[in-house]
Amino acid sequence: MKLLRTTTELINWRHGETRSVGFVPTMGNLHEGHISLLEAALKEHPVAVLSIFVNPTQFGPTEDFTRYPRTLDQDLAHVVALMTRHPGREVVVYAPADPAEVYPAGFATVVAVPALSHFLEGAIRPGHFEGVATVVYLLFQLVKPRTAYFGRKDYQQYRVVKRMARDLGLAIHVKGLAIVRSAEGLALSSRNQYLSEAERVDALILVRTLRDMQQRLGGTAANAPAVRAWASEILAHDPRWQYLEVREARHLGEDLPRKGKVVFLGVLKLGAVRLLDNIEGELI
Ligand code: PAJ
Repeated sequence: MKLLRTTTELINWRHGETRSVGFVPTMGNLHEGHISLLEAALKEHPVAVLSIFVNPTQFGPTEDFTRYPRTLDQDLAHVVALMTRHPGREVVVYAPADPAEVYPAGFATVVAVPALSHFLEGAIRPGHFEGVATVVYLLFQLVKPRTAYFGRKDYQQYRVVKRMARDLGLAIHVKGLAIVRSAEGLALSSRNQYLSEAERVDALILVRTLRDMQQRLGGTAANAPAVRAWASEILAHDPRWQYLEVREARHLGEDLPRKGKVVFLGVLKLGAVRLLDNIEGELI
């Protein structure tokens, strides 16, 4: 494993690398969800770059940027353990020592995908997806991967990044991988560690409610008004819910196709923790 702490080191390494590169961007505090992405990158490429950077521009002023868990040593130990299962492969970890490595003084550019960024997560977290798209673009330009791996856990983020890469002609294949869950069904997240025992149990209502929505839709777009009315009732009676929606899967529009993929998305706030989850379905 190689650990690079500056952008100059990354640029120099990339200039000398001729093999195809798979890329996994993260904010660290790695769990099995992140590891599944790295595993996929290593299966498909001789070299994988893993970035670990808590990106300030995607956090709102009242969000948890300063409190976000920074656990580099533990993360590197995870990577070393994974590499023993992939002999002959290489992992390069880019963990900039300072945000100025990514955003030099006077940085004044924004990369944005407005058509996908101002509803759902974007409505609750203004500027979030601009921060994500900007940092992912910067990282893509530095790492120059053939393929980049994202989790569909952050479904809207995956769609934003995929669209950005396509629209800007980056020639990077953006793959979205399935959500890794606990045995009980809770989607793994770095923020789950802040849940109490009791909250971890309560948290399961998120995925159960999404599954319930899926059952109520029953694969038929005509049932959408009834499903939405049912979801509105839940939102109206329990302030812990931030949204609970069914959307078309690619553009995340409200109009559902007669046939094709849909996604059920929800956010439940337990104490200080925002839990984000989704499940995918198909209209037949
Ligand atoms: P982070 O939250 O660290 O997530 C890094 C990647 O891991 C994302 O693609 C996310 O969707 C994926 N991931 C997280 N939990 C997962 C799970 N349970 N199953 C599968 N994949 C999971 O997302 C970010 O960082 C940042 O916004 C980033 C893209 C790095 C830009 O700063």
